[in-house]
Amino acid sequence: MIEIKNLTKCYGDRKAIDNLSFNVKKGEVVGFLGPNGAGKTTTMKIITGFMAPTSGAVKIAGFDVFEDPIEVKRRIGYLPETPPVYGDMVVKEYLEFVAKLKGVPSENVKKLVDRAIEKTQLGQVSHRLIQNLSKGFRQRVGLAQAIASDPEILILDEPTVGLDPRQVAEIRTLLKELRGEHTIILSTHILPEVQATCERVIIISSGKIVAEDTLMGLGQKLTGGASVQLRVRRHADELAVLLRSLKGITSVDVAGQSLRVHGAGSEEIIEAVSEAAVSKRAGLLELSHPATELEDIFIQLTSAN
Ligand SMILES: Nc1ncnc2c1ncn2[C@@H]1O[C@H](COP(=O)(O)OP(=O)(O)O)[C@@H](O)[C@H]1O
Ligand SMILES: [Mg+2]
Repeated sequence: MIEIKNLTKCYGDRKAIDNLSFNVKKGEVVGFLGPNGAGKTTTMKIITGFMAPTSGAVKIAGFDVFEDPIEVKRRIGYLPETPPVYGDMVVKEYLEFVAKLKGVPSENVKKLVDRAIEKTQLGQVSHRLIQNLSKGFRQRVGLAQAIASDPEILILDEPTVGLDPRQVAEIRTLLKELRGEHTIILSTHILPEVQATCERVIIISSGKIVAEDTLMGLGQKLTGGASVQLRVRRHADELAVLLRSLKGITSVDVAGQSLRVHGAGSEEIIEAVSEAAVSKRAGLLELSHPATELEDIFIQLTSAN
């Protein structure tokens, strides 16, 4: 669906992105993760055809972004870093304007705009001027304009930046809803964001890809076998004995009601761990991947250069 080949962009003599290549398949939700200045926005501007690369190529559904810009833009909904909203327009009129601009046939405009308003929960402000809305609502208008033409692909540049925690949670819920309906690339410098919404993650640092994998695969690769954290109501020690006997588990640490199971990287092993807890009637309260581990990985990967 999205093919990115050897993209390089220089601003003057500064290389913002350096020979990036990756693909995104139809229906995938990919997190584009990297610290500020890594080159996320630059890459997204090129993918969406808003800026030309210094070298390299981007194809969307087989169309070259610069040879067939109209075919490409028709298929993409883009939420730029600064949403392109016109303050002096009313929310609903603005969304209708965007849908028409995107080539939605006039008989479908109302239906699609109503859907976008519903998904982004803009109903209560749909007749208000955009300039009078709070930042959270304006960000939702930005998202609504990205989905207003029901595009196959959504490119979202830091969709939750500057929002309060409740608004962040709402946007994440919306993104989960959009999953399956669109192919999505989402950029962020916030790790829990990709953990909450993405299947695959591409980590960039100083304009280069430093890792590309599923979240779990990344954990395994970098720690030589991930670990899972369990919390049980009872029988922690007996459960540890059973877990140590399972194939693929290298060690188990017990601290009170908590167990840290090492080497439990694959989904099969995690399933076996949860089954063991059930068979021991240990009263499983929690099973999680310690978040700090992924954070460590991120810091390790992005501070090297
Ligand atoms: N218009 C520009 N002119 C010069 N340098 C730029 C411009 N836009 C971005 N850069 C530089 O390119 C690098 C990547 O920026 P950007 O793509 O915005 O990263 P991110 O979105 O990951 O924070 C940064 O070093 C930034 O300072
Ligand atoms: Mg950016």
